[in-house]
Amino acid sequence: MSGSSPSHAKMTEPHDRILSGRALPDDDSRIEASIRPQRLSDYIGQNRVKENLQIAVEAARSRNEALDHVLLYGPPGLGKTTLAQILANEMGSAIKVSAGPLLEKKGDLTAVLTSLDARDFFFLDEIHRLQPAMEEILYPAMEDFRVDLIIGQGPGARVHPYQLNKFTLIGATTRAGLIMAPLRSRFGIVHRLEFYTPEDLLRIVHRSAKILDIKMDEDGAFEIARRSRGTPRVANRLLRRVRDFAQVRAKGVIDLGVARDALSMLGIDEHGLDETDRNLMLAIIQKYGGGPVGLNTLAASLSEEEDAIEEIYEPYLMQLGLLDRTPRGRVATGLAYKHFQLEEPRRQPGLF
Ligand code: ADE
Repeated sequence: MSGSSPSHAKMTEPHDRILSGRALPDDDSRIEASIRPQRLSDYIGQNRVKENLQIAVEAARSRNEALDHVLLYGPPGLGKTTLAQILANEMGSAIKVSAGPLLEKKGDLTAVLTSLDARDFFFLDEIHRLQPAMEEILYPAMEDFRVDLIIGQGPGARVHPYQLNKFTLIGATTRAGLIMAPLRSRFGIVHRLEFYTPEDLLRIVHRSAKILDIKMDEDGAFEIARRSRGTPRVANRLLRRVRDFAQVRAKGVIDLGVARDALSMLGIDEHGLDETDRNLMLAIIQKYGGGPVGLNTLAASLSEEEDAIEEIYEPYLMQLGLLDRTPRGRVATGLAYKHFQLEEPRRQPGLF
C-alpha cells in the first residue's frame, strides 16, 4: 500500500476467535490483504453504499478535488478498511492508516495530518475510541484543513495555525452511537455497512477460492457462505480452514460433505453460530430465565469483555432474531428457544 506509514499500520488488538470479524495479526491477515478487492468494480455486495461512493468519487475526480470525509460504520469484518483502500485507489491517492487507541499524544495526530499530500487519505479505524483532545484537533483539520501548532510551553507558548493540504478522512467504527454529534456532523458522506446476503458471500467465497487456487464445488461454497454470519472476513477465514480439512481428510476438493464435516469440527452450527454464541444465548436462557439480563452480568458470567459482546457477538444474534436488546437488558426471543430446542417459559404479561 503506497504511502502507508508502518508506525500507524497497527490495527486492532488480537482476537483469535474464528468467527470474530476482528482482524488477526498473523498469516491470516496477510492472506486477507492479498485477496482484498482493489477497485469498486471488484467489491461484491453493499450495492447502495458502493453506488453512492462511485458517484462521489467520479464527481471529486472530475473537479480535481479531495473526496469529502467519509464515515463508515457497522459490525467488524464487513469491509470498512477494504473500502477505504479502494477509495484511495479510485482517487489515485496514497492512504495512511491509524486507529483511535493508537493516537496517544496530540503530536501523533498532528504528525500524520501535516504529512498528508493534497487528496491523500487518512483512515482512522475505531474512531469512537479517540481521546477528546484528539477530536479537538480533528475538528479544524476536517473543516478548515488547519491544525493549531503550539510552539513553546507555559506562559510563553504561542499558537501557530498551520495550513494542511486538502485531504480525506475516512473514519470507521463499530459503534456509531458513541460518536459525538460534532464529529459526526463533519463527515459529508456517512454509510452503514450491512451484513452480506448468502448470495453475495457465495460470490466472495468463489472469488477468494479462485485467487487462492482452492478447488471447490457449488454446494461446498454455499455451505461456507451460508455459515459465515453475513461477514466476508469470516467467510474467507472459514474457506481457508475448510481447505486445510479437505487437504488432510479428503482429496483436496471442497464439496458439501467436506464443508459440513469441517465446519462441524470447527464447532460452527447450521446458522453459523460458534461455541461462544451458543454459550451466550444459553446463559441468558438457562441462567437468567431468558432475560432481561444486564450486559455487565452477562459479560462476567461468560468471562468475555462487554465490548466484544456488543460489537462482535450480539449484532449477528440480533440479525438472526435470537436476541433482543431492551432497556432492562438482553432477552432471548421465542426463536432462540426454538433454535436450541428448549421450551419457552410462560412469561407474565407486562413483565418487560
Ligand atoms: N473480500 C472481502 N470482502 C469482499 C467484498 N466485499 N468483495 C469482494 N471480495 C471481498
